[in-house]
Amino acid sequence: MDLSRDPDAPTTLGEVAVIGAGTMGAGIAQVAATAGHGVILVDAVAGAAEAAIERMRTVLARQVDKGRLTQDAATAVTDRITPATAISDLPECALVVEAVPEDLELKQRILGDVAATQPPTTILATNTSSLDITAIAEPIPDPERVLGLHFFNPPPLMRLVEVVHGKGTAAAYLAHAAALMAAWGKTPVTCTSTPGFIVNRVARPFYGEAQRVVEEGLADPATVDWIFREQGGFRMGPFELTDLIGQDVNYAVGASVWEQTGRDPRYAPTEFQRGLVEAGRLGRKSGRGVYSYGAEPAAAVAGPDLGLAERLGSGPVETDPLGRTVAMLVNEAVDLVHRGEASAADVDTAMRLGVNYPRGPIEWGRDIGLDVVAEQLAALDRAFPGGRYRPSPALTDGSLDD
Ligand SMILES: NC(=O)c1ccc[n+]([C@@H]2O[C@H](COP(=O)([O-])OP(=O)(O)OC[C@H]3O[C@@H](n4cnc5c(N)ncnc54)[C@H](O)[C@@H]3O)[C@@H](O)[C@H]2O)c1
Repeated sequence: MDLSRDPDAPTTLGEVAVIGAGTMGAGIAQVAATAGHGVILVDAVAGAAEAAIERMRTVLARQVDKGRLTQDAATAVTDRITPATAISDLPECALVVEAVPEDLELKQRILGDVAATQPPTTILATNTSSLDITAIAEPIPDPERVLGLHFFNPPPLMRLVEVVHGKGTAAAYLAHAAALMAAWGKTPVTCTSTPGFIVNRVARPFYGEAQRVVEEGLADPATVDWIFREQGGFRMGPFELTDLIGQDVNYAVGASVWEQTGRDPRYAPTEFQRGLVEAGRLGRKSGRGVYSYGAEPAAAVAGPDLGLAERLGSGPVETDPLGRTVAMLVNEAVDLVHRGEASAADVDTAMRLGVNYPRGPIEWGRDIGLDVVAEQLAALDRAFPGGRYRPSPALTDGSLDD
């Protein structure tokens, strides 16, 4: 099967290899095996792949107990996965996905080894969340088959997969990978290898605006979280969510986008979050982040000020935590489309499925009126000059009007 000549190549059930049997690799292996592929799960640490399969058995057994899966189906999934420790032991595979730690040289070396031992039709995918696909493909002789398959955690439960193309990725491989993800029951969206891809880029203001609102003394975190949940329809507010993700992890993602965009002021990290990280207040995992995690639930300990929430929500956009955040989310989303990194439909799908937003930001912006969002950003830019609130040309050029 020559994929470069056949963009509609059928998604045959070839073997799939997953390199790295950690959180993501084990989950991706489970998804591929559930879809019927024979899977080879490779980890450099002896026994790590076997341990991952054992953990999978335990999780699947719970689903059998709950009546969500038959014992036969559960057994079939783990039976299809073979542990391995060396790339050189792999049979010919239709797809190899690497999910080793986030280190450019390591990923280059792993995919280079795979490229040298697999036939030219094998798709070489990386699950990187922040590295440039073009850079990962750089030492590989045929970069047209290298692409990103950015799964979300946990892969068996999260439907979204960002299918990311580097500068050298051929359209045929991209289309084939997207079709394969759909065949696995996932919802693929495609984008260029722009810093943060879709989700980790567009979501930045969700955290950054809330942190600025608190830094400016407009509201406390519990009130801001309440506003996002109760008035915005988000499942979690920005502070409780970053406490769950880990303030250090969230800070690192934001700083990486900021660095990769040449320190664009839109993504500048806040002193607020830097302070939390430096103080070791990393969130739930360290027992304390924005909130303290004792016997009582965090939000119950620090109650929201509902009167303040009401006043801020009915005031001007500069002092409205939800209003200014939504304006910024819309701005990020339309700008991504304006630059040709992704389609409007894929951006909205990615934000709904990848981070559970109640609405796609572009649909949200169209409802508000893109011209209204442009005016809100202009007001924010007057109040806080410096480039953070510069409006995307797409808000006013009519290119995204319905
Ligand atoms: N954890 C997440 O929420 C998440 C979400 C999306 C993407 N990612 C990305 O997925 C990748 C993996 O993340 P993770 O959280 O699963 O990491 P992890 O630390 O849980 O797992 C990495 C695994 O790779 C193995 N490994 C290291 N070097 C290896 C080598 N040379 N050959 C084979 N195996 C090797 C390790 O032993 C480990 O088991 C990273 O690129 C990360 O950015 C993570």
